Amino acid sequence: MLLPLLLTFQGLLLHPAASTGASAWAPGPPGAATEDRVSFRLLQASSFANRSWAHSQGSGWVGELQTHGWDPALGTIRFLWPWSQGNFSMQMLENIQNLLRLYFRGFTIEVRAFAQEFQFEYPFELQVSAGCTLRAGKPSGIFFNGAYQGSDLLSLQGNSWQPSPGAGSRAQKVCAVLNRYRDIKEIVLSLLSNTCPQFLAGILAAAQAELGRLVKPEVWLSRGPSPGPGRLLLVCHVSGFHPKPVWVMWMRGEREQRGTRRGDVLPHADGTWYLRVTLDVAAREAAGLSCRVKHSSLGGHDIVIHWGEKELGPRWEVTVIPGSWGRRVRCVGDGWGCQAHGNRSRSIQTRAEKDRC
Ligand SMILES: *[C@@H]1O[C@H](CO)[C@@H](O)[C@H](O)[C@H]1NC(C)=O
Ligand SMILES: *[C@@H]1O[C@H](CO)[C@@H](O)[C@H](O)[C@H]1NC(C)=O
Ligand SMILES: *[C@@H]1O[C@H](CO)[C@@H](O)[C@H](O)[C@H]1NC(C)=O
Repeated sequence: MLLPLLLTFQGLLLHPAASTGASAWAPGPPGAATEDRVSFRLLQASSFANRSWAHSQGSGWVGELQTHGWDPALGTIRFLWPWSQGNFSMQMLENIQNLLRLYFRGFTIEVRAFAQEFQFEYPFELQVSAGCTLRAGKPSGIFFNGAYQGSDLLSLQGNSWQPSPGAGSRAQKVCAVLNRYRDIKEIVLSLLSNTCPQFLAGILAAAQAELGRLVKPEVWLSRGPSPGPGRLLLVCHVSGFHPKPVWVMWMRGEREQRGTRRGDVLPHADGTWYLRVTLDVAAREAAGLSCRVKHSSLGGHDIVIHWGEKELGPRWEVTVIPGSWGRRVRCVGDGWGCQAHGNRSRSIQTRAEKDRC
């Protein structure tokens, strides 16, 4: 168990950044975050239902925002944001993934082997919260806390595992055993004090670039389900823009149409946004209406798309699934080579783009 762990770890070693020399071993998870203090933490929750059944969940968090998930079946890291990889190379990330895979497998094996000695009584739950903090961009501390059945069990203090106050003889036994494995302690210390702050700094830089970016919307029109005899529901789709604030209005010339209804601004998988704005009109009044979009990415050049000026494009059905951060775009009928997409590539040629050509 230990050998592959150590070998994998060789590929992970980062030389401490010059600034880590001053790193303080501040114990405990980050408390109320001050403005310039931010943490990266890995959370693990492992359930042991009986001698043969165990399940572990893992996740990564920057402050209160989840940035990473762990797929226990595939043994892979899920990157929840475009910037979740920070500035680490694919090779680095793969090494970390391999290490985590070994860790999760080894954790279950070792816990089972020691369950009796540690007085772990089935069914039981073990949790780990481990990570590092940066203050004003500099590493300012690490933490590693373990819990049994939802209560503090142990933590890493300086160079050794210490039982939590009031955790009793069980915690003392676990720490006594853990403290014998010096190699594991060295690995944990190095990951938390060297790798973690560099990863976090890279993520913060990438996120900042990402969150500050301007992305132009794509705009297209479609017909919604008819609201009644002789009436039309005009739908204006505004998609893929960033940042979130946007102004969209159905217009007749320069006159805003008061019946304009605005949906919720929904997230796309890539961190951009989608908005649907509708207008219920008598069919004979549809001609001459247009959808107008103002957005910070357009530099004052509003997008204006006229209803029925040209032959309508494909009818679009857009399903945005906020819970899963996914999106499906499907078009019905012959369109402009539309494709389903859930990534950042601009594979949909929109009415707006056609008009701008
Ligand atoms: C162990 O726990 C799992 C999950 O609760 C259950 O499905 C399984 O039947 C249990 N096995 C034994 C041998 O009790
Ligand atoms: C990532 O960026 C951080 C902060 O700029 C830096 O300290 C670190 O060395 C970088 N890591 C890699 C692997 O490039
Ligand atoms: C993104 O979508 C395009 C077009 O649908 C596809 O060719 C490409 O492989 C996708 N990229 C990723 C990373 O999934």
